[in-house]
This record gives sequence, C-alpha cells and structure tokens, in this order.
Amino acid sequence: MSGLIDQFGRTIQYLRISVTDRCNFRCRYCMPLEGLPWLPKSDILSYEEIADVVRQLAPLGLRRVRLTGGEPTIRPQLSRLIAMIRAVDEVEDIALSTNGVKLPALAGELATAGLDRVNISADSLRSDRIVAIARRDLGFDPVRAALAAQAAGLDPIKLNVVVMRGTNDDEVVDFARLTIEHPWHVRFIELMPVGEMEILTDEHVVPSDEILARIRAEFGALEPNAGPARGNGPAAYARITGARGSIGVITPMTHTYCGSCNRVRLTADGRLRTCLFGDHEVDLRTPLRAGMPLEPFVRQAMAEKPEAHALLSRRNGGLRALSQVGG
Ligand code: 5AD
Ligand code: SF4
Repeated sequence: MSGLIDQFGRTIQYLRISVTDRCNFRCRYCMPLEGLPWLPKSDILSYEEIADVVRQLAPLGLRRVRLTGGEPTIRPQLSRLIAMIRAVDEVEDIALSTNGVKLPALAGELATAGLDRVNISADSLRSDRIVAIARRDLGFDPVRAALAAQAAGLDPIKLNVVVMRGTNDDEVVDFARLTIEHPWHVRFIELMPVGEMEILTDEHVVPSDEILARIRAEFGALEPNAGPARGNGPAAYARITGARGSIGVITPMTHTYCGSCNRVRLTADGRLRTCLFGDHEVDLRTPLRAGMPLEPFVRQAMAEKPEAHALLSRRNGGLRALSQVGG
C-alpha cells in the first residue's frame, strides 16, 4: 500500500486528534466566556472509533499521534484511548497537548497507559494573570504541572506561551529563565489574530524577533540549538548558554510553514481536516459508522490538501476557533 503523499509531495505521518471540543478554561484568545456551541455527544467519535481510524491510517504511513481538544484531559478515561493507540505497532510517538490543569492528578496514569510526551499551554507564571487570561480559577500552576509530567517520565516537556502585548509580554524573560534550571522547551507562539475575541487584533501580536531580542538583552547571545529530539514541528530553537532546556519560537504570523506541513487533523466529530485554516475536510464518521474502509476517503482528503493556507490574506473570513479544529 502506498503512503499518504499529497499532490505537493508532502508525506503525512502525523495526525492530531481532537478528542473533545470542550474546555475547562476560556482563554481570551481562544474561546468566548460563554463557551461555544458544543458538539452533541452522539456526534463525537468514541474511543473505539478513534482507535479504528488510527489502525486504518497506520498502514498508510501514520507514525505520530497527538491528542488535542478543546482540552483532551477533561474527557473521561483518556488513558483508555492512549492504551488503545499504543497497541498500534506502527505508531512510534504519542503526544498530548493540554492546558495542564489536570496533569498533577493524571500524568502518572497517562504515562503508564503509553503516553510519550506532553505540551503544556502556559501563558503566565503569575496566578492572578493565569486567572485573568484563562477566565477560570482552577488553581493552575504551570511549573507544578511540568514537574508532575517530568516525574511521570514524560519527555520532552514543552511549554507553549502565546505572547500577547500588554498581557504577558513582560514575562518572556521569566519563562526563558525556567530553561536554565529545568530541561524544558519553552516555545513562544505569536498570537494569531484570527477570530472574534477582543484580544485577537494586530496590536497584540509580538513578533518573534522582538521576543528573542528581549531574551538576548537579559541573557546574552543565544546558542543555536536543535531543540528536543522528538516532534520538532514548526518551532525554531535556541539556548541560553549553559541552560538545560531550550527556547523556541513559533511564528505563524511572520512565516508560513505550509511547505513542510506533515500533519492532518481529526476533529472530535470525525472529520479529517488537511489544513488548519479553511474548509478542507472530509467526513470519516459516516463511512466509519457504516463499516466502510476509510482509505478512499483519506486519499480524497489528501488529494485536496491545499498547498498553503490563506490565513495572512483572509483573516476573519469564517475561520473556526482553534479549539474547534484541534489546534
Ligand atoms: N493564537 C496563537 N495560538 C493559539 N492557540 C489557540 N488560539 C490561538 C491564537 N489565537 C494555541 C496555543 C494554545 C493552544 C491551546 O492553542 O498554542 O496554547
Ligand atoms: Fe482551552 Fe486551550 Fe482554548 Fe485555553 S487555549 S480555552 S486551554 S482549548
């Protein structure tokens, strides 16, 4: 069986799976305070159905899986799904993107089930600010969450910081400092001003050059660094001299990564999205529930994967919130 190569020669080995569109946070850049019109439970793929999709994609070349949301850890028994995916031989790497709230309670169980590694969203190190950004007071402490993940053996540990001017840009240096003592990879993400929320405007975007300049002003020149051994996606990494961890920047607003895009997304309701932005998706749930093989539908989706997204030119043209498309 031939692998999944799209019409622009990109091979697809990486699937991001949204297990729920719901979240226990309401981050200002992601979700309105009142939440979103959630998918009805009957539309959401069961763990058995998700594992079936993974098993059918594995012989087509799938090697890496990431579980996302919404917030994946609020779906009950997430470790059951992880164990089912771990049982698929071809899958080499299982990662989780989480807001970290539940990691102190769940990290051990998730690692035991077969989770390899974790990305934690951490937009501030100050508890009052965390509440102001996430608009829920759940006692989240990013350092505690990362330590819990580390203690469970999850590796590498990445912290994702969405930088917002006037909100948390004064903490860039504090986040960078964490990498001196801890073997963590702190990634600064340029805010994508692509939705209805108040914060999603150009004046809140802090370009990555500015982020790196602030870090250099504090710690001196940065060493180039390959970054974590696994799952390097679109980030470019550097290191403070002598630091155990690294610093990365993800620059959706100043660069596009489409040319090397190796990923597709499965939405919580079972559609395969081949680009984060735009309407490129194929329904897999209907054939799945009808017991039909998925390969023809997956190949159709791949044939339609666009060469590049229209984010920078289209902006607010009917884009869905990232929580709805699996970030
Ligand atoms: N801009 C940048 N990143 C975003 N995320 C969600 N919304 C945005 C946005 N508007 C990403 C961040 C966050 C994760 C859940 O989704 O990485 O940590
Ligand atoms: Fe939830 Fe992540 Fe969106 Fe925040 S950014 S509301 S944690 S899905």
